[in-house]
Amino acid sequence: MTTPSPYTTARIRSDFLDFFRGKGHEIVPSAPLVPANDPTLLFTNSGMVQFKDVFLGAEKRANPRAADVQRCLRAGGKHNDLDSVGYTARHHTFFEMLGNWSFGDYFKKDAIAWAWELLTEVWKLPAERLLVTVYHTDDEAYALWHEMIGIPAERIVRIGDNKGAPYASDNFWQMADTGPCGPCTEIFYDHGPDHFGGPPGSPDEDGDRYIEIWNLVFMQFDKQPDGTLQPLPAPCVDTGMGLERLAAVLQHVHSNYEIDLFQALIRKAGELTGTADLENKSLRVIADHIRACSFLIVDGVLPSNEGRGYVLRRIIRRALRHGWMLGTREPFFHRLVGTLSSLMGEAYPELSAKAEFVERALLAEEERFAETLDAGMKIFDDVAAKSGGKTIPGADAFRLYDTYGFPLDLTQDIARERGITVDVAGFDAAMEKQRETARAAGKFGGGVTLPAELVAQLQPTQFLGYDELQAGGLIVLAMLRDGRPVDAIEAGDEAIVILDRTPFYGESGGQVGDTGELDEQGVRFRVDDTQKLAGQFHAHVGRLEAGTLRRGDHLLGAVDAARRGSIVLNHSATHLLHGALRGLLGTHVAQKGSLVAPDRLRFDFSHFQPVGGDELAEIERRVNVEVRGNHPVVIRQMGMQEAIDSGAIALFGEKYGERVRVVAMGDSVELCGGTHVGRTGEIGLFKLVSEGGVSAGVRRIEALTGQAALDHVVAEERRLREAAGLLGGTTLDVADKLRGLLDRQKRLEREVETHKAKAASGATADLAGQAVDIGGIKVLAARLEGLDAKALRDAMDRLRQQLGDAAIVLAGASDGKAALVAGVSGAANGRVRAGELVAFVAGRIGGKGGGRPDMAQGGGTDGPELRQVLAEVPGWVSGKLSPA
Ligand code: ALA
Repeated sequence: MTTPSPYTTARIRSDFLDFFRGKGHEIVPSAPLVPANDPTLLFTNSGMVQFKDVFLGAEKRANPRAADVQRCLRAGGKHNDLDSVGYTARHHTFFEMLGNWSFGDYFKKDAIAWAWELLTEVWKLPAERLLVTVYHTDDEAYALWHEMIGIPAERIVRIGDNKGAPYASDNFWQMADTGPCGPCTEIFYDHGPDHFGGPPGSPDEDGDRYIEIWNLVFMQFDKQPDGTLQPLPAPCVDTGMGLERLAAVLQHVHSNYEIDLFQALIRKAGELTGTADLENKSLRVIADHIRACSFLIVDGVLPSNEGRGYVLRRIIRRALRHGWMLGTREPFFHRLVGTLSSLMGEAYPELSAKAEFVERALLAEEERFAETLDAGMKIFDDVAAKSGGKTIPGADAFRLYDTYGFPLDLTQDIARERGITVDVAGFDAAMEKQRETARAAGKFGGGVTLPAELVAQLQPTQFLGYDELQAGGLIVLAMLRDGRPVDAIEAGDEAIVILDRTPFYGESGGQVGDTGELDEQGVRFRVDDTQKLAGQFHAHVGRLEAGTLRRGDHLLGAVDAARRGSIVLNHSATHLLHGALRGLLGTHVAQKGSLVAPDRLRFDFSHFQPVGGDELAEIERRVNVEVRGNHPVVIRQMGMQEAIDSGAIALFGEKYGERVRVVAMGDSVELCGGTHVGRTGEIGLFKLVSEGGVSAGVRRIEALTGQAALDHVVAEERRLREAAGLLGGTTLDVADKLRGLLDRQKRLEREVETHKAKAASGATADLAGQAVDIGGIKVLAARLEGLDAKALRDAMDRLRQQLGDAAIVLAGASDGKAALVAGVSGAANGRVRAGELVAFVAGRIGGKGGGRPDMAQGGGTDGPELRQVLAEVPGWVSGKLSPA
């Protein structure tokens, strides 16, 4: 770099937003990396993701123009650059995309003119360094570049379907396999002849000379799962410019890793890993990965073994392995969070707010992987040596995965560095056996869906249930039986009914759906649940109990008011709980899920250790203080920005429109679509009933409110009184009494043991005297009350010693059963077999037995037969001793 460039990344962000603000665009904050309510997409991979529903016509925005700086991740799914990071000058997992949008407003002409103005007039890029591409059939875009802007024909390249299928082209952009798409025109910057590479469309286009900086997509279609293209309700513009690439151009450097932001991260990574060579590839990988990992955690993802959490784990582990290669053996990665936060925290306040939590989450993962990284690398070396520099067998890759926590792509990454490959098919085969535990990344659940034609036809359901629990004149717009639209249903049919308006709350935001009835003269539909479909239709799920219900009929809807009343208490209490947790434990506490049911509430949140007993008591106390404060619950609609400015907590993974509903009570302010109490005092009593872990870094609290909380306390009290009664004391001294009792019990148990041992040895002394001499062998058969198998064996050992040449059988009787032990010793060995002896006795008392010639065991029933057979033992032995 010759002269330092004034264009820092911070300045570029603000220049861009200022420019489009000046062109009537609304500036929109970056959406999280986890797309809200979109199961088709693993991560936000471009700026347009948060506007997908706007393109599809399912959502309207007041201003048809928007601009933003969007954080993006391309690591998994359709757009995946993870494998290229560190190997090229400009691939990243995480990057920032500058974008401007028109939702059915301006189209190609303005999009092209403004892009050119910003690049050449504001940022003063020399026009002769810029090239453009257009989709091969897009004559309109071609003409605009050529005639309106004046770009000579030799610097406009038409690009066709160069990826092997119709519309599979560098100049036809798609968000994912389905969804909004359209032809695009791309602007390239020529880094000059010092760099190898050819213009787009040439064989050397992948070189480093011509770099795409801005993509202007003319969104016109919605790609269907069957591959067909449906036109969008209105043509739109979606543009995306990579901040890092642009910064490289404006800062006169070639690689993205040389820009201000990356250099600062690389310097810090160098310091932490003791690496002086700042060009080291591993430092670049670490600098890239700390951004991806930190923002994933900010956006609610935690390392885990499936889905998004596994992508995060893979990226972290790659970074750690690079640290390891640099010789670092201590946790270091989390220590980059502070630097990152100082660089990007101003543009992304959510990062500064959660920096400490991010650090802890990363440190936990570092500590976890440290346990196996070293050993895994040794295994890798062994396996690589055995492979003779060719292929790592799938079974070994799987062992590295399963035992040492090496994700497959990590093993491949290491293998690639050494010029060897990995048998992926073999790995998959090994993995197949473990399928149920390691679910593949990228699978997300669906639910009941509404046929597309209904979504297109129907108006969203108007929800009346914030104010009313009953309403008349509700019109039946659609009914589904077995998932298909029908015009009428009959008594006995299970069905889904969709109305124009409804007082029934549809399950969402953790709050369960309402139940109740829909009636009209002779027609009665029992509502067992209400679901929200496609985010906007309340589906009444239930059974027609009487009459016939037709499309167009009018109904009176009545929500089960008592049930809703309990739900409402739990929902408001959930907000107070959330506030108390953040107040006491810290603002890293984020809602990870909730269930607001009539009988209880459940709240899952991010936190790294169990919440201790004292903390729980304090949280319960704080919530109850808010309850007694009897704060009014104030609900207002406002713009998203205003809501954020007012400090409202927005929930992870929720989709918010431009106008949001803000629920405030006391100090708690949350964006929420649920139903609430009028004043917090209605909650009556808040009682925590459990706390536990759900997964790494996620805790769960369950609690009760109102009558249910009181019932719980009363029931506990009753149990306590019962216990006190049994202990002969009061509820106040239960613990003391119990402790005394337990001590006494322990003492008694010890005494019993001593007595038992004494009794057993006394008994055997007596027993020895009962043995009869048969041909020089002492024969003893005795029944001993209450001795278990172990005590019998001990007695047997002593008796064999005392009697010398002996054949003995002992029966320990208790609870109607007899345990048998037989033993022979001295001269009796070889003449009498213990196994036969025990079998003889057991056979007569309905049991079995057997064992070695000198020692055997068995069992049977205690009773007169036992005494009888024991009396016959001397005769039996005598029979064995007499020569055959
Ligand atoms: N959505 C377009 C892209 O990501 C602008 O390149």
